[in-house]
Amino acid sequence: MTKPHWRPTRTSDLPAISAIAARIHPGLAERPDVFAEKMRLCPEGCRVLTADDEIVGYGLAHPWRLNRIPPLDHFLERLPGDADCLYVHDVAVLPDFRGGVARDYVTAIEELARAAGIATLALVSVYATRPLWERFGFRPVTADAELRAKLASYGEAATYMLRDLAAA
Ligand SMILES: CC(C)(COP(=O)(O)OP(=O)(O)OC[C@H]1O[C@@H](n2cnc3c(N)ncnc32)[C@H](O)[C@@H]1OP(=O)(O)O)[C@@H](O)C(=O)NCCC(=O)NCCS
Repeated sequence: MTKPHWRPTRTSDLPAISAIAARIHPGLAERPDVFAEKMRLCPEGCRVLTADDEIVGYGLAHPWRLNRIPPLDHFLERLPGDADCLYVHDVAVLPDFRGGVARDYVTAIEELARAAGIATLALVSVYATRPLWERFGFRPVTADAELRAKLASYGEAATYMLRDLAAA
Protein backbone atom coordinates (compact mmCIF):
# COMPACT_ATOMS: atom_id res chain seq x y z
CA MET A 1 0.00 0.00 0.00
CA THR A 2 1.29 3.48 -0.85
CA LYS A 3 1.53 5.95 2.02
CA PRO A 4 -1.82 7.73 2.48
CA HIS A 5 -1.73 11.37 1.43
CA TRP A 6 -3.99 14.42 1.64
CA ARG A 7 -5.32 16.11 -1.47
CA PRO A 8 -7.92 18.85 -2.03
CA THR A 9 -11.53 17.62 -2.17
CA ARG A 10 -13.53 17.26 -5.39
CA THR A 11 -17.32 17.36 -5.62
CA SER A 12 -17.26 13.67 -6.53
CA ASP A 13 -15.68 12.89 -3.10
CA LEU A 14 -18.92 13.78 -1.30
CA PRO A 15 -20.43 10.24 -1.06
CA ALA A 16 -17.16 8.89 0.39
CA ILE A 17 -16.91 11.77 2.89
CA SER A 18 -20.51 11.24 3.98
CA ALA A 19 -20.00 7.50 4.37
CA ILE A 20 -16.92 8.00 6.57
CA ALA A 21 -18.73 10.65 8.64
CA ALA A 22 -21.71 8.34 9.16
CA ARG A 23 -19.40 5.52 10.28
CA ILE A 24 -17.15 7.57 12.58
CA HIS A 25 -19.69 10.07 13.94
CA PRO A 26 -22.94 8.05 14.15
CA GLY A 27 -24.30 10.33 16.91
CA LEU A 28 -23.33 13.60 15.22
CA ALA A 29 -24.96 13.23 11.82
CA GLU A 30 -24.70 15.95 9.19
CA ARG A 31 -26.32 16.14 5.75
CA PRO A 32 -24.10 15.73 2.66
CA ASP A 33 -25.20 19.20 1.49
CA VAL A 34 -23.75 20.70 4.66
CA PHE A 35 -20.34 19.15 3.83
CA ALA A 36 -20.69 20.24 0.20
CA GLU A 37 -21.27 23.85 1.23
CA LYS A 38 -18.00 23.90 3.20
CA MET A 39 -16.14 22.41 0.22
CA ARG A 40 -17.62 25.15 -1.98
CA LEU A 41 -16.98 28.03 0.46
CA CYS A 42 -13.45 27.02 1.43
CA PRO A 43 -11.93 24.51 -1.03
CA GLU A 44 -8.42 25.20 0.32
CA GLY A 45 -9.44 24.01 3.82
CA CYS A 46 -11.15 20.81 2.70
CA ARG A 47 -9.03 17.74 1.98
CA VAL A 48 -9.42 14.00 1.70
CA LEU A 49 -6.91 11.37 2.74
CA THR A 50 -6.37 8.84 -0.01
CA ALA A 51 -4.69 5.43 0.08
CA ASP A 52 -4.38 3.53 -3.20
CA ASP A 53 -7.03 5.83 -4.73
CA GLU A 54 -9.49 5.04 -1.97
CA ILE A 55 -10.75 7.81 0.32
CA VAL A 56 -9.95 6.85 3.90
CA GLY A 57 -10.40 10.16 5.71
CA TYR A 58 -11.28 13.80 5.40
CA GLY A 59 -10.59 17.17 7.02
CA LEU A 60 -12.82 20.22 6.70
CA ALA A 61 -11.85 23.74 7.82
CA HIS A 62 -12.94 27.27 6.99
CA PRO A 63 -12.38 30.86 8.17
CA TRP A 64 -14.68 31.86 11.04
CA ARG A 65 -15.07 34.20 14.03
CA LEU A 66 -13.48 33.46 17.39
CA ASN A 67 -15.83 32.19 20.10
CA ARG A 68 -18.55 31.45 17.56
CA ILE A 69 -19.32 27.82 16.91
CA PRO A 70 -21.26 26.79 13.83
CA PRO A 71 -24.04 24.43 15.03
CA LEU A 72 -23.72 20.91 13.64
CA ASP A 73 -25.65 20.14 10.47
CA HIS A 74 -26.35 23.84 9.75
CA PHE A 75 -25.40 25.78 6.65
CA LEU A 76 -22.82 28.53 7.12
CA GLU A 77 -24.49 30.57 4.32
CA ARG A 78 -21.34 32.67 3.83
CA LEU A 79 -17.90 33.12 5.34
CA PRO A 80 -17.44 36.17 7.58
CA GLY A 81 -15.62 39.10 5.95
CA ASP A 82 -13.85 39.76 9.26
CA ALA A 83 -12.71 36.19 10.00
CA ASP A 84 -10.17 35.98 12.83
CA CYS A 85 -9.70 32.23 13.08
CA LEU A 86 -9.53 29.17 10.89
CA TYR A 87 -12.10 26.76 12.28
CA VAL A 88 -11.40 23.04 11.91
CA HIS A 89 -14.88 21.58 11.56
CA ASP A 90 -13.81 17.94 11.61
CA VAL A 91 -10.97 15.54 10.91
CA ALA A 92 -11.91 11.88 10.61
CA VAL A 93 -9.79 8.97 9.46
CA LEU A 94 -10.77 5.29 9.17
CA PRO A 95 -9.14 3.31 12.02
CA ASP A 96 -6.78 1.26 9.81
CA PHE A 97 -5.21 4.43 8.40
CA ARG A 98 -4.62 6.42 11.61
CA GLY A 99 -1.21 7.30 12.98
CA GLY A 100 0.56 10.49 11.98
CA VAL A 101 -1.97 11.57 9.38
CA ALA A 102 -3.96 14.11 11.42
CA ARG A 103 -0.68 15.91 12.09
CA ASP A 104 -0.15 16.38 8.34
CA TYR A 105 -3.63 17.84 7.90
CA VAL A 106 -3.18 20.26 10.82
CA THR A 107 0.18 21.38 9.40
CA ALA A 108 -1.49 22.15 6.06
CA ILE A 109 -4.25 24.12 7.81
CA GLU A 110 -1.69 26.02 9.84
CA GLU A 111 0.10 27.03 6.61
CA LEU A 112 -3.22 28.08 5.09
CA ALA A 113 -4.01 30.28 8.11
CA ARG A 114 -0.59 31.91 8.07
CA ALA A 115 -0.88 32.63 4.34
CA ALA A 116 -4.27 34.28 4.94
CA GLY A 117 -2.95 36.36 7.86
CA ILE A 118 -5.10 34.45 10.37
CA ALA A 119 -3.40 34.01 13.74
CA THR A 120 -5.60 31.42 15.47
CA LEU A 121 -6.87 27.91 14.78
CA ALA A 122 -10.14 26.91 16.48
CA LEU A 123 -12.07 23.67 16.88
CA VAL A 124 -14.53 21.77 19.01
CA SER A 125 -12.94 18.63 20.41
CA VAL A 126 -15.38 15.74 20.73
CA TYR A 127 -15.27 12.35 22.47
CA ALA A 128 -11.92 12.02 24.27
CA THR A 129 -9.79 13.82 21.67
CA ARG A 130 -8.78 16.74 23.90
CA PRO A 131 -5.30 15.29 24.71
CA LEU A 132 -4.72 14.69 21.00
CA TRP A 133 -5.43 18.35 20.17
CA GLU A 134 -3.29 19.47 23.11
CA ARG A 135 -0.42 17.56 21.45
CA PHE A 136 -0.87 19.91 18.50
CA GLY A 137 -0.77 23.03 20.72
CA PHE A 138 -4.51 23.63 21.11
CA ARG A 139 -5.67 24.85 24.53
CA PRO A 140 -9.18 24.48 25.99
CA VAL A 141 -11.15 27.68 26.44
CA THR A 142 -13.26 28.02 29.58
CA ALA A 143 -16.74 28.22 28.12
CA ASP A 144 -19.16 30.87 29.36
CA ALA A 145 -22.91 30.13 29.36
CA GLU A 146 -23.33 31.27 25.75
CA LEU A 147 -20.46 29.12 24.47
CA ARG A 148 -21.71 26.13 26.50
CA ALA A 149 -25.13 26.45 24.88
CA LYS A 150 -23.53 26.43 21.43
CA LEU A 151 -21.41 23.40 22.33
CA ALA A 152 -24.51 21.41 23.29
CA SER A 153 -25.12 19.99 19.79
CA TYR A 154 -21.61 18.45 19.83
CA GLY A 155 -22.26 16.09 22.73
CA GLU A 156 -21.30 16.01 26.39
CA ALA A 157 -17.49 15.97 26.19
CA ALA A 158 -17.31 18.81 23.67
CA THR A 159 -14.60 21.38 24.41
CA TYR A 160 -13.89 24.58 22.47
CA MET A 161 -10.12 24.81 21.86
CA LEU A 162 -7.81 27.41 20.34
CA ARG A 163 -4.27 27.38 19.06
CA ASP A 164 -2.43 30.68 18.86
CA LEU A 165 -0.11 30.47 15.85
CA ALA A 166 1.95 33.44 17.00
CA ALA A 167 2.87 31.48 20.13
CA ALA A 168 4.02 28.43 18.16
C1 LIG B 1 -8.64 12.37 15.29
C2 LIG B 1 -7.96 11.46 14.26
C3 LIG B 1 -8.19 11.98 12.88
C4 LIG B 1 -6.46 11.45 14.60
O1 LIG B 1 -5.78 10.74 13.58
P1 LIG B 1 -4.31 10.15 13.83
O2 LIG B 1 -3.71 9.84 12.51
O3 LIG B 1 -4.44 9.04 14.83
O4 LIG B 1 -3.57 11.34 14.53
P2 LIG B 1 -1.98 11.60 14.51
O5 LIG B 1 -1.29 10.31 14.83
O6 LIG B 1 -1.58 12.35 13.28
O7 LIG B 1 -1.76 12.68 15.64
C5 LIG B 1 -2.20 12.50 16.84
C6 LIG B 1 -1.13 12.92 17.83
O8 LIG B 1 -1.79 12.76 19.05
C7 LIG B 1 -1.42 11.51 19.61
N1 LIG B 1 -2.67 10.82 19.89
C8 LIG B 1 -3.41 10.02 19.08
N2 LIG B 1 -4.51 9.62 19.73
C9 LIG B 1 -4.45 10.18 20.97
C10 LIG B 1 -5.29 10.15 22.10
N3 LIG B 1 -6.43 9.46 22.11
N4 LIG B 1 -4.90 10.84 23.20
C11 LIG B 1 -3.74 11.55 23.22
N5 LIG B 1 -2.92 11.63 22.17
C12 LIG B 1 -3.27 10.95 21.07
C13 LIG B 1 -0.58 10.78 18.58
O9 LIG B 1 0.40 10.00 19.24
C14 LIG B 1 0.02 11.96 17.83
O10 LIG B 1 1.09 12.58 18.53
P3 LIG B 1 2.60 12.45 18.03
O11 LIG B 1 2.60 12.81 16.55
O12 LIG B 1 3.33 13.43 18.87
O13 LIG B 1 2.95 11.02 18.26
C15 LIG B 1 -8.47 10.01 14.36
O14 LIG B 1 -8.17 9.51 15.63
C16 LIG B 1 -9.99 9.93 14.12
O15 LIG B 1 -10.46 9.90 12.99
N6 LIG B 1 -10.77 9.87 15.22
C17 LIG B 1 -12.23 9.81 15.13
C18 LIG B 1 -12.82 11.12 14.69
C19 LIG B 1 -12.53 12.23 15.68
O16 LIG B 1 -12.64 12.09 16.87
N7 LIG B 1 -12.16 13.39 15.11
C20 LIG B 1 -11.87 14.57 15.87
C21 LIG B 1 -13.07 15.40 15.97
S1 LIG B 1 -12.74 16.84 16.97
